[in-house]
Amino acid sequence: MIRVGVVGASGYTGLELVKMLVSHPKFVLTYLATTSGDSMIETLHPSLVGVATQKVKKATTEGVAEHCDLVFLALPHKASMGFAKGLIDKGIKVVDLSADYRLELETYERHYCEHEDREYLDSAVYALIEYYREELKSTQLAAGPGCYPTATLLGILPFIPYLDPNVPLFVDAKSGVSGAGKKLSDTTHFVTINDNIFAYNPLKHRHAPEIAEKIEKIHGVKMQVNFVPHLIPATRGELISVYGVLQADIDPLEVLKNHYADDPFIRVRENPVDIKSTAGTHFCDIYAARNGNALFVNAAIDNLLRGASSQALAAANLMCGLDEAMGIPTIAYVP
Ligand SMILES: NC(=O)c1ccc[n+]([C@@H]2O[C@H](COP(=O)([O-])OP(=O)(O)OC[C@H]3O[C@@H](n4cnc5c(N)ncnc54)[C@H](OP(=O)(O)O)[C@@H]3O)[C@@H](O)[C@H]2O)c1
Repeated sequence: MIRVGVVGASGYTGLELVKMLVSHPKFVLTYLATTSGDSMIETLHPSLVGVATQKVKKATTEGVAEHCDLVFLALPHKASMGFAKGLIDKGIKVVDLSADYRLELETYERHYCEHEDREYLDSAVYALIEYYREELKSTQLAAGPGCYPTATLLGILPFIPYLDPNVPLFVDAKSGVSGAGKKLSDTTHFVTINDNIFAYNPLKHRHAPEIAEKIEKIHGVKMQVNFVPHLIPATRGELISVYGVLQADIDPLEVLKNHYADDPFIRVRENPVDIKSTAGTHFCDIYAARNGNALFVNAAIDNLLRGASSQALAAANLMCGLDEAMGIPTIAYVP
């Protein structure tokens, strides 16, 4: 068995990781940690009573190194890079869910903060599974993509060669409240979000530069990305609508079907997609349509799973030479 740990086990993505890891056929959970430690996992997450019982320790690089072959860092940005560097030095495989290893140095420092691990930043593989599968098999450090970039990129990347690169992309995104993590804020307060929907950080959200950077890296095309996220009164799920202008005569559904023919976790749909059909799963559902040269792409994911923890697990599987699908959830929370 391969020994794995979760640092940030008290958070939302940490919980999703634990839920998948307790029944994983090849990974055994040997280390759980938070900032303060000194607890039990079923105390932090009462839904785990009768499912898992394990000590939660105060997070230290020495603790990870002693107990783990691979670790998931389910931490806020900046906290992750503090851990990752020391662990890579010790030969541990690291899957980071934060933004710390996702971006080029210049993009990161412009939108987040000063980077403290320039040494390993360049060696990180962006864990958008369908596009970096081969690279993930041989890396020691995987960088989990942002949740919005995951849905947006999976939806729009197949169309980039057919789009007019001089026309900006418009991305209208909607997310359930768990996308913001467990910390309460005014916008995530029940009274603010219940029966409500509103945009936040319109045209300024830091997932826009991530989307633009990866489009350029994968297709060599520089596109302006206008990104507007909205918060919706749902616990989990993300729905993305992307609008672009075509410069080629294509059948959008045929493009998607051909592009993802060998990708079992992408479901090309004949109708607009919804968040509920992917909730609790690793699937990304995608639909697309055109009206003349106007292209509409619609993608749905579970932000906590495909947008974070199940994508991280698929990356870990590949890094350890296992089947990408091992332990990956596929049954949606429907109805
Ligand atoms: N939520 C999503 O849908 C989503 C999607 C994609 C990516 N992400 C990214 O994944 C990461 C985790 O997100 P989340 O939603 O799970 O956040 P969260 O619910 O706020 O959990 C963060 C966890 O990190 C722990 N923590 C913070 N600083 C720490 C430190 N220095 N040492 C050890 N533990 C520390 C916190 O535990 P204590 O305070 O109890 O110590 C908490 O358990 C973030 O970087 C986020 O941007 C989240």
